[in-house]
Amino acid sequence: MRESPLRSLAVLLAVALVCSVLVSVSAVVLRPIQAENARIERYRHIVALSGLLDGAADAAGIAAAVAQLDMRVVNLDTGEFMDDRDPDDVNARRVANDPALSTTIPPEHDLARIGRRSRYEVVFLVRDEGRLSRVILPIHGQGMWSTLYGLIALDADLNTIAAVTFYEQAETAGLGDQIEDPAWQARWTGRRLRGQSGDFRFQVAAGPVDEGSPAASHQVDGLSGATLTGNSVTALMRFWFGPYGYGPLLERMADRKE
Ligand SMILES: Cc1cc2nc3c(=O)[nH]c(=O)nc-3n(C[C@H](O)[C@H](O)[C@H](O)COP(=O)(O)O)c2cc1C
Repeated sequence: MRESPLRSLAVLLAVALVCSVLVSVSAVVLRPIQAENARIERYRHIVALSGLLDGAADAAGIAAAVAQLDMRVVNLDTGEFMDDRDPDDVNARRVANDPALSTTIPPEHDLARIGRRSRYEVVFLVRDEGRLSRVILPIHGQGMWSTLYGLIALDADLNTIAAVTFYEQAETAGLGDQIEDPAWQARWTGRRLRGQSGDFRFQVAAGPVDEGSPAASHQVDGLSGATLTGNSVTALMRFWFGPYGYGPLLERMADRKE
């Protein structure tokens, strides 16, 4: 049979059409699965910081641990819990630059270099026999090249670090990306945010922590070759525990002994 150019074109178009339909259908079908996986991944980090699970857990184990967490929406501007709001409806990252749902950070307070932040954030309270044992707070800020996303868990005194994770960043491999090193993150446990007089003192040190020094209880080791990323972590911590971060919430919680 002779091939006409028209016939070849028709076959080509038909193949292109079938392929594009397949790509579109798979994108639509996979989108909710990807969203669900991203949600489980985020919960995996939160659960790891909660102290509720030892070691790795499957999706069902994570879901069971998440069910034990008290998820609360906070108005960061006032520090109040917004118990009429559903945590599932709050996506602080998505609305961080939405003028209707976010707050401009005055430049002199913007140590995290994020410009704006969502007015509402979801925080996680962990209870042990009814008493608050940990509070888990999302944190983020600009690093040397990228936004650093993390979560920090504080003990019930709202001052001692129980655990930290930085789970998303795009700093240089081998340099700034050391903030994802679990061994470095483990060194945060037991360090304190504030001194006796309530002044914020936590910092990533310039090098290894001198454990004999008075500052040691507020420091973690510097990252070699990555002083700039380390300084960004210090700055974002100072921001998130200041007046435009969780300062108002933590003051209210301390007063109320939640
Ligand atoms: C290509 C390139 C990528 C770099 N990436 C990072 C980085 O991700 N984080 C960082 O803190 N420093 C990074 N640095 C190094 C910084 O410029 C700076 O030298 C370093 O933070 C100083 O740390 P140190 O005092 O521990 O040597 C990079 C340097 C180069 C040339």
